[in-house]
Amino acid sequence: MRLARTVNQQFGLFDRSRQLPLGQQDPEERHESDVGARSLIYVGDAETVLRTLPDESVQVCITSPPYWGLRDYGVGDQIGAEPSLDAYLDRLIAVFTEVRRVLRPEGTLWLNVGDGYTSGNRGWRAADRKNPARQMSYRPPTPDGLKPKDLLGIPWRLAFRLQERGWYLRSDVIWYQPNCQPESVRDRPTLAHEHLFMLTKAERYYYDQSAMIESTKDGRRWRRKRTVWSIPTEPLNEAHYASFPADLVRPCVLASSRADDSVLDPFFGTGTVGVVSKELGRPFVGIEIKREYALIAAKRTGLREDQVVAAG
Ligand SMILES: C[S@@+](CC[C@H](N)C(=O)[O-])C[C@H]1O[C@@H](n2cnc3c(N)ncnc32)[C@H](O)[C@@H]1O
Repeated sequence: MRLARTVNQQFGLFDRSRQLPLGQQDPEERHESDVGARSLIYVGDAETVLRTLPDESVQVCITSPPYWGLRDYGVGDQIGAEPSLDAYLDRLIAVFTEVRRVLRPEGTLWLNVGDGYTSGNRGWRAADRKNPARQMSYRPPTPDGLKPKDLLGIPWRLAFRLQERGWYLRSDVIWYQPNCQPESVRDRPTLAHEHLFMLTKAERYYYDQSAMIESTKDGRRWRRKRTVWSIPTEPLNEAHYASFPADLVRPCVLASSRADDSVLDPFFGTGTVGVVSKELGRPFVGIEIKREYALIAAKRTGLREDQVVAAG
């Protein structure tokens, strides 16, 4: 399907003034399949595709960009293979500038970013026994101002840059991974968490606090969710292995969107954000550079082949 035509069709359906796009159904009666019919996966570079989407057309973006210098997705234009940390951060800033444009004024970005350590200018990387085919064949040089063995601090470097560009940094959720990978290092604790930042486009935004609750330790009461979430990583039995656990995505979708609002993930991978959005009655837009992953995502979310759109 041609890109421009599908964008218009899709975002016509997302127009807020047309609240009941599929006939006059009550939203409560709408089925998952209807939501699926209004969802799309674009195959292409995140920034390039985002530039084709209309202003203020999605309610929430939930995403996890590739780590820097860790994984080779084997596709030209992939993010994460930049020779310098600044070049990597610049590319992410370009993507999230477009995300900010396509978000509605009361919209939210949930951003999960991984960290890493400097290479100490080792040009090689120790073997990744779990997935040798996909490890990056090089390690990027140690950035200026950092030393061998330094933690890069990528999540906060990115968060500060986004703040400088107008985003409101509202929360830093620590995603604690109780089943984290053991590490062979003997001179620091094993890394067992990642950051999930909540950023908003404006000072006031949509937030359903009743969706952000957890039970107390004794299980007898509910309280507002705290900023440390213990959620095991979920390996997927398909080609991709850095997928989001659904339990990480679900509270973000529920708190930051209403039924029928559209959800965006510009680094869609195998489409967990789509799976959860569909389950919760929200149409989604996924962007993924690797066609193989986009097709896995389409299968997981029940999209037809003509809903997987090649960009360009
Ligand atoms: C950390 S993974 C995201 C995993 C995803 N959250 C899931 O549940 O499967 C990052 C994804 O970004 C994709 N990617 C890399 N460079 C990209 C680019 N320039 N534009 C769009 N996607 C890109 C990779 O192929 C990979 O699937």
